[in-house]
Amino acid sequence: MAETPVSVRIAGTGRSVPEKILTNADLEKIVDTSDEWITARSGIKRRHIAEPGTPLSELATDAGRKALAEANVEPEELDLILVGTVTGDFKFPSTATFIQAKLGARNAASLDISAACSGWIYGLHVVKSIIKAGEANKVLLVGGEILTSMTDWTDRSTCVLFGDAAGAAVLRREEGGTGGVLSTYIASNGELTHLLYGPGGGSAHPATDRTLSPDMFTVKMAGREVFKHAVVCMEEAAQEALRRANLQPEDIDVFIPHQANIRIIEAIAKRFKFPSEKIYINIQEYGNTSAASIPLAIDEAREKGIVRPGHKVLCSAFGGGFTWASTVIEF
Ligand SMILES: CC(C)(COP(=O)(O)OP(=O)(O)OC[C@H]1O[C@@H](n2cnc3c(N)ncnc32)[C@H](O)[C@@H]1OP(=O)(O)O)[C@@H](O)C(=O)NCCC(=O)NCCS
Repeated sequence: MAETPVSVRIAGTGRSVPEKILTNADLEKIVDTSDEWITARSGIKRRHIAEPGTPLSELATDAGRKALAEANVEPEELDLILVGTVTGDFKFPSTATFIQAKLGARNAASLDISAACSGWIYGLHVVKSIIKAGEANKVLLVGGEILTSMTDWTDRSTCVLFGDAAGAAVLRREEGGTGGVLSTYIASNGELTHLLYGPGGGSAHPATDRTLSPDMFTVKMAGREVFKHAVVCMEEAAQEALRRANLQPEDIDVFIPHQANIRIIEAIAKRFKFPSEKIYINIQEYGNTSAASIPLAIDEAREKGIVRPGHKVLCSAFGGGFTWASTVIEF
């Protein structure tokens, strides 16, 4: 007897961003930069930043509650909470456990994934596989980051880029359904870790070193090198997600790329000949929110009616590691 096909559908989405806004004009007062430079080189106009000491689980739980409400799923129904982040609450336990407690999701297992800006799509790949294997029915998948907790406010080449946010989705198993997550793809190259990383706080440079080497605890990035790899890898990832879904670029209704730099987004869009109305861009408002970037954009695009039921959405991301990842989702 043929197996009943199983689809993995997004049943609800949510987002949470801090109220406090840091504009390019505010940054002009902190480092030697200008609104003109930041806008032209990155596309960013402002970013939302959390109060110092805000645990990521606060934003993540808020985003998760909204996703659960839309999906009409109770926290107790969740089998798993998975969080993509590199700025979790503690070194351990996982941020997912804090969210589990805050939501009262007592039947859920908790898991964090460290894949930097690709974290949410990496998580989607894992969640899709777990649901298809029959190991879970309902999963809360969060991408969240308090990147300002590891921002060097004296380094103009990085501090103008990042913002804080969380985005979430409830994934549900549907027997016999079609659509949902049509494809996922994940990849990495660990030989290039030195181009984008945050060394402090791990076993190589424990937090006890903080007073001796405060510089260890902030983001290090070779911007120009990262830029080149981001364009190549995000394009490759997008191609692969399309291939795995058996689709062509013209089948895609909305392209939602990781929001790291407007010039990266434009370079990729050009290669696929996506017209501007098919690309969702919100980098001007939030900057690079790493693992939150894709789910935040998906939630916003759905709320604005840009992503609608039946739409096929292509997402592609790139981040430290390097890691890169992509997905096609039919809503
Ligand atoms: C960071 C980034 C915006 C810099 O843009 P760029 O065009 O590559 O700029 P460069 O790093 O080559 O620097 C050009 C000049 O601007 C200067 N500059 C850097 N930051 C600046 C700032 N905030 N304000 C003004 N000038 C700045 C540099 O010092 C350099 O000056 P120089 O030519 O006198 O040495 C860009 O490289 C980038 O977006 N990289 C990828 C980032 C990314 O995607 N990261 C995350 C991956 S998930």
